[in-house]
Amino acid sequence: MTMNRRTLNTALAAAALGGMLPASVLAQKKLVLGFAQVGAESEWRTANTESIKSSAKEAGIELKFSDAQQKQENQIKAIRSYIAQKVDVIAFSPVVESGWETVLREAKAAKIPVVLTDRSVNTKDDTLYVTFMGSDFVEEGRKAGRWLVEKMKDQKGEVNIVELQGTVGSAPAIDRKKGFEEIIKADPKFKIIRSQTGDFTRAKGKEVMEAFLKADGKKINVLFAHNDDMAIGAIQAIEEAGMKPAKDITIISIDGVKGAFEAMIAGKLNVSVECSPLLGPQLMQAVKDIKAGKPLPKRIVTEEGIFPMEVAAKEFPNRKY
Ligand code: AHR
Repeated sequence: MTMNRRTLNTALAAAALGGMLPASVLAQKKLVLGFAQVGAESEWRTANTESIKSSAKEAGIELKFSDAQQKQENQIKAIRSYIAQKVDVIAFSPVVESGWETVLREAKAAKIPVVLTDRSVNTKDDTLYVTFMGSDFVEEGRKAGRWLVEKMKDQKGEVNIVELQGTVGSAPAIDRKKGFEEIIKADPKFKIIRSQTGDFTRAKGKEVMEAFLKADGKKINVLFAHNDDMAIGAIQAIEEAGMKPAKDITIISIDGVKGAFEAMIAGKLNVSVECSPLLGPQLMQAVKDIKAGKPLPKRIVTEEGIFPMEVAAKEFPNRKY
């Protein structure tokens, strides 16, 4: 007779209750977590995946992991397969904000709790997930904006900004833009003259920056990139155009990955706002708490800082991703 894992667990529990199994056998029963990752688009994402895999191992949780290659349909397929496999908990970082209601209802109907990590979904029904853990992306955008306003406070005349947005429709792209604009709109000298997606990748960041430089060249004073990888790609484009990154063009980005620190130490990036990918330990704790019936807050916010180039060399040895 074949038994799926949930049936087996129920049988083990019943046997234990009837005194047929020692508690030590039950203790070996592993929780199973199905995790649907966005992809491997950035240094940040690689660190996030590594954090989830290593924390699952440490916590003794069996991890079923899938990489959606930045495609929502692949994430939906993965979630459906976790439902079919009757995992204990499903977690995922939604590639975009909308379009999740149907599959989340399927998980709810199957009584499988869902945890959102890193990115949230746009739904009116917040009973479709247990908790959302991750950064406050609007605040990250505000931090970037505040840094710029302070840096340029004595600058007379227009400040022309180009923006490299993250993946279209993703929470970090929507929220970082919103937070940044909220701050810079207080002074009309700040103008976003071009804004386009670079899909959070180095290659796209470089390609779009090349187009910005072709169109506006020396008119560009500032680049706001929604992540470090796009900024690093754009730095290459700026150098190839014969300009000096972080001098001719002030560059602000988000994540705080090691690659950004290296760029700051080399004097090519002005500032990186921190966004921590190290969500694995918190996620594993949440999985255990959910299965133990402990209530969790609906929102768990990650604490983060901001690193200008002046502190990069000193901070570099402390960086974990
Ligand atoms: O959702 C977090 C964002 O996704 C990071 O800023 C970016 O680098 C990643 O790909």
